[in-house]
Amino acid sequence: MQTPILVIGATGNIGRVLIQRLLQQGRLVRAATRHPERYPAHPGVTPIYFDYEQPDSFAPALAGIKQVFAIAGPASTGVTLPFSPFVAQIQRAGVEHLVLVTTMPILRSDGLHLWDEVEQPVLQAGVPCTFLRPNWFMQAFVDSFMATMVKQGRLCVPAADARISLIDARDIGEVAAALLTAEEHRTHAYTLTGGEALNFTEIAATLAHASGRSVEYHHEPLETLGVTELNAAGGTMTPIKNLTYLFKTLRQGSFAEVDPTVERLIGRPPTTFAHFANEHAAVWQTEPSPQSTRSA
Ligand SMILES: NC(=O)c1ccc[n+]([C@@H]2O[C@H](COP(=O)([O-])OP(=O)(O)OC[C@H]3O[C@@H](n4cnc5c(N)ncnc54)[C@H](OP(=O)(O)O)[C@@H]3O)[C@@H](O)[C@H]2O)c1
Repeated sequence: MQTPILVIGATGNIGRVLIQRLLQQGRLVRAATRHPERYPAHPGVTPIYFDYEQPDSFAPALAGIKQVFAIAGPASTGVTLPFSPFVAQIQRAGVEHLVLVTTMPILRSDGLHLWDEVEQPVLQAGVPCTFLRPNWFMQAFVDSFMATMVKQGRLCVPAADARISLIDARDIGEVAAALLTAEEHRTHAYTLTGGEALNFTEIAATLAHASGRSVEYHHEPLETLGVTELNAAGGTMTPIKNLTYLFKTLRQGSFAEVDPTVERLIGRPPTTFAHFANEHAAVWQTEPSPQSTRSA
């Protein structure tokens, strides 16, 4: 009988596309989620309870599994969950290939990569792993505080004139599918970016064109919003100081690199921001709720 592939983050932007692709290639999937009871029934997919904060959920999810796709946690701006207990269980389970999403290098003040706490335990355990290190997701303009700013017509973030090669998270799902169904794999790290590096003036103009609204970019510190945290990627509430650090890293040019890996692995150019914005135009055409920049 075919062994299923365990997908952690099955309900997320990346996981949903990955599962579609794996099913199209005739693979079976075990879909890890904190809410298996809500997971839509689908032939070839078995939902299973999994929560990084509940180590008891690791062994049942990994039982009999040889290949794992995982996001390292729900947050995008800092490692919030201890990763080592999960890695230890992966090792015990005899997993043969882990495809793990971390992020493009973000250096901390002590010189370490923000995600070393995730990647190092995997390397030390000797688990065969492909690290996927993506840039910021285009989805941040749909599911974070920036979506509200776009609806209000003022994208006020401290990006100066820095460029960023945003990636559509769905392209990462395709990359992961290509890697999980490849004959061979070895421990490797891929930087994943979109195919163009835009500054926020160009991003605002693209969003304005797609939505039919006026959207202007203004360089402003996030502190002027007068809040301590904001709804960042995936709806995770994130301290302003973490987001401020991310924007500082952006201004230093750390997210401007355009890397050819996505096209090489999926055989087509990465999704452009203009295409993404046109597809999601309806999101920015609704009226913002009162005070939604603060609470969104
Ligand atoms: N957003 C960015 O710009 C960016 C950039 C680089 C890297 N990343 C990384 O990409 C990943 C996010 O991927 P995505 O966009 O596909 O996800 P997403 O759409 O934000 O969805 C979050 C996923 O995390 C799962 N999740 C939340 N809390 C969990 C927990 N305690 N235990 C297990 N699973 C949990 C959710 O599953 P259930 O709710 O079903 O349990 C859901 O599938 C993160 O690891 C982030 O660090 C993001």
